[in-house]
Amino acid sequence: MTEKLNQILNEAKAEIAKAKSMLKLNEIRAFYTGKKSPLAEMMKNIASLTIEEKKTLGSASNKVKQEIELAISQKRNELENEEINAKLNAEAIDVTLPGYDLKNGSIHPINKVIEELEDIFIGMGYKIAEGPEVEIDVFNFEMLNVPKGHPARDMQDSFYINDNVLMRTQTSPVQVRTLLEANGKPVKIVCPGKVYRRDDDDATHSHQFMQLEGLVVDKNITMSDLKGTLSMLMKKMFGSERKIRFKPSYFPFTEPSVEVDVSCFKCGGKGCPMCKHTGWIEVLGAGMVHPNVLKGVGYDPNVWRGFAFGVGIERVTMLKYGIDDIRNFYTNDSRFLKQFEGER
Ligand code: PHE
Repeated sequence: MTEKLNQILNEAKAEIAKAKSMLKLNEIRAFYTGKKSPLAEMMKNIASLTIEEKKTLGSASNKVKQEIELAISQKRNELENEEINAKLNAEAIDVTLPGYDLKNGSIHPINKVIEELEDIFIGMGYKIAEGPEVEIDVFNFEMLNVPKGHPARDMQDSFYINDNVLMRTQTSPVQVRTLLEANGKPVKIVCPGKVYRRDDDDATHSHQFMQLEGLVVDKNITMSDLKGTLSMLMKKMFGSERKIRFKPSYFPFTEPSVEVDVSCFKCGGKGCPMCKHTGWIEVLGAGMVHPNVLKGVGYDPNVWRGFAFGVGIERVTMLKYGIDDIRNFYTNDSRFLKQFEGER
């Protein structure tokens, strides 16, 4: 009997040692430890043995079973390690392979100009303000001295959400929001942002574009502050030789209002196709904050005064880089965008 047990053990061990996969090992385990294993078969035939013999055989066969199980579990560890190593080897990264040629992106020219403008104004002590693109009529028009039915509304037709809510047509509502929030204190902000108008898109019009609003309100603000500020802005944007000129204009929320021209940076003012032979290029609208606007937000116009201006960012960017179609900014043609790589 012991001999038979030893034989089973040896056979099992030999097979376990030969196993090359988990699958095979599982088969071996099922065969040697299951109900129909050689051991189990052997135990079926012990009825004729004495109690003593049964005991000895029983414990000997248990030992064999344990040894087989031990051998199986050792082999299982071995196979698992082999599997992990094989996987590690197969997935090893070859660090000597050349990398992918990923193209560098670049900052969009519009964002570049916004950043440049912000830097200039931060340098002059301004804070950056923001406002929502979905605006209420009261802030976009009424508190800017444009009551319902005012003819100036025609120029800024927008996309209406309902009678009182619209996509803002200008960044000027941020003037109202900022002053309400400042609650009687001086204000010095610029606000870049998207605005919307119901225009047909063409080379110079877009139903969505960007503006940068500027607003300064304090006790001794005069029009020469506005002129000095805008003159400085134009020198920084278009070169130190630039001059500006004011032309009378009309905005409902400024009085007086001006259209601002910069001397042509292409021809220096002599006249060329860029400035339509006038020597001047129109760049922005501005003026002194209208007393009605100040009153509306709780600033006494006899004490407080301010100036405001609005820059069309696409327009300035087109002038600066000689871009002839506003739609280039929005069509995401990488050949267009690529030209601004590394620009700054
Ligand atoms: N909001 C005006 C426009 O969009 C521009 C402007 C801003 C004019 C501030 C004067 C003062 O046309």
